[in-house]
Order: sequence, then structure tokens, then C-alpha cells
Amino acid sequence: MLAACSSYGDDGSDTEATTASTPATTETTTGTTADATPAGTELGPTSDVPVGGGKIFPTEKVVVTQPTAGTFQGFSAVCTHQGCTVSSVKSGEIICNCHQSHFSAADGSVVSGPAKTALPSKTVTVSGDAIYLA
Ligand code: FES
Repeated sequence: MLAACSSYGDDGSDTEATTASTPATTETTTGTTADATPAGTELGPTSDVPVGGGKIFPTEKVVVTQPTAGTFQGFSAVCTHQGCTVSSVKSGEIICNCHQSHFSAADGSVVSGPAKTALPSKTVTVSGDAIYLA
């Protein structure tokens, strides 16, 4: 008796249809390197920020100072007077050359100049020998 012949040849290749929609977006969480590094933007090595001085990161609009060895402070680099990016850090002061406002490199407060408001602080963290902007 060969009664079952008619059901052969109907197993086709439809079983792979579900694999056609493999998502191509496997890394859409964050654009930063996410291994052991903290969240945030890497600004640069701590060695770029001298003790008693600071470094301005114009792209990120942040200034990082190191008032005492091992203590890093972050401030907005946007002058609170009229919005220039601050120009330099000298002698414990953050200086805006637009109209000569001076801010404390320790806490961002106004030392002198037309600016009336302190530079807002920014959270910076140090991991290894690199500084990150949170
Ligand atoms: S914008 Fe900085 S001192 Fe005027």
C-alpha cells in the first residue's frame, strides 16, 4: 500500500522566512566607548590641567581647573557676562578676554570685571588619568 505518496514535496523552504528581519542595529544605546570608562565625554588627560591652573575645552564649553593637586573642578566656559568663551586660566583665575571678567578657578565666583554671576559648575570626574565631563 503506497497511499501516502501525495504528501511529499510540500515541505518547501519557508522555515527561513523569519530570519530575514534580523535587526541591523545592535549598538544604538550610546555613542561613547562603553567598556570600563565612566559615562560622559572624555575631555583629556589630567596632565593637561596644571595644579593651580586649568584648561579650557571650547568644544565642550567647559573649563577644568585643579586648584589643589588631585582636585579637579569643572565650570561652564561660557562667560556669564555676554557669553564669550573664557580665554585663559592664570594665577588661580579664569579670565574672559572679551571684557576682562575674572572668575575664581576654585569655585567659579566673580573676582572682578563686568560679569556679575559666577560660572556655573560642571560635573567632571577622573578615571585613571583621564577627565570626563558628566
Ligand atoms: S563676555 Fe566675558 S567679560 Fe564680557
